[in-house]
Amino acid sequence: MWDYTDKVMDHFSNPRNVGRIEDYDGIGEVGSLACGDALTLTFKLDADGRIADAKFQTFGCASAIASSSVLTEIIKGMTLEEAEKVSNQQIADKLGGLPEQKMHCSVMGQEALEAAIAYYRGKGKAAVHKHGKVVCTCFGVTDEEIRKVVQENSLTTVEQITNFCKAGGGCGGCKGRIAELIEEVVGENKQKVLSAKPVRPAKLTNIQKIQLVQQTINEQIRPALRADGGDIELIDIEGDKVIVALRGMCAQCKMAEFTMRDVVEAKLKEFVGDMLTVEEMKD
Ligand code: FES
Repeated sequence: MWDYTDKVMDHFSNPRNVGRIEDYDGIGEVGSLACGDALTLTFKLDADGRIADAKFQTFGCASAIASSSVLTEIIKGMTLEEAEKVSNQQIADKLGGLPEQKMHCSVMGQEALEAAIAYYRGKGKAAVHKHGKVVCTCFGVTDEEIRKVVQENSLTTVEQITNFCKAGGGCGGCKGRIAELIEEVVGENKQKVLSAKPVRPAKLTNIQKIQLVQQTINEQIRPALRADGGDIELIDIEGDKVIVALRGMCAQCKMAEFTMRDVVEAKLKEFVGDMLTVEEMKD
């Protein structure tokens, strides 16, 4: 039995917005019954161009139904520009998290939304076209889809890719190419982190400080730690003291002290302010 959150169980037991809008403005159909999950998402816009209604039909497990249900709640009231920024991580977060092996359900929701918006923008003519070259023939996943899922979720292993988009979960013949794609994206990310220029506001309110610390951890620190099998969690901020916990490989690493000083504290000073100090919370 999967360890689902109460929110997942609530959306699974009482799914919101089930069905299909017949005079839809946008429709996105992703997955296939042969692959075990399929989702059709339809939406209708109001006169101001906001999503007035959204409905879904899903064939799949509890997390596929919960992800689709919560997605319809997230996008109602949004403009298409706002809706196209919704990430699969946002869908999972809104459910209080998903088991990693089920993250592909949140990705399926995000892809259906993207396809529905593309349909609307193509005025109904644009068939949903996959971008890139198919890497996993068992599940019809392209290199562009794999790169996107690695990028948006900071993934580093083939197993994670399978959890997020199913690629590699069949015959396994595509695993070598998936590993190459991960290496390419991780390499590009490291390069971006190294060349990123800090943009620091002159004076920060407490709220701005917290947001900037979280943003720096997400964008500047976490990708570098994940590339080495580790991770970091922001625990608290007391004045100018940032309390964090190292996770994964970083937690057991003999070099943790250097990671804290030369990576975590250095990046926070660079992107947020020189006044910050960092303290590690041990479990
Ligand atoms: S080709 Fe990807 S699992 Fe078979």
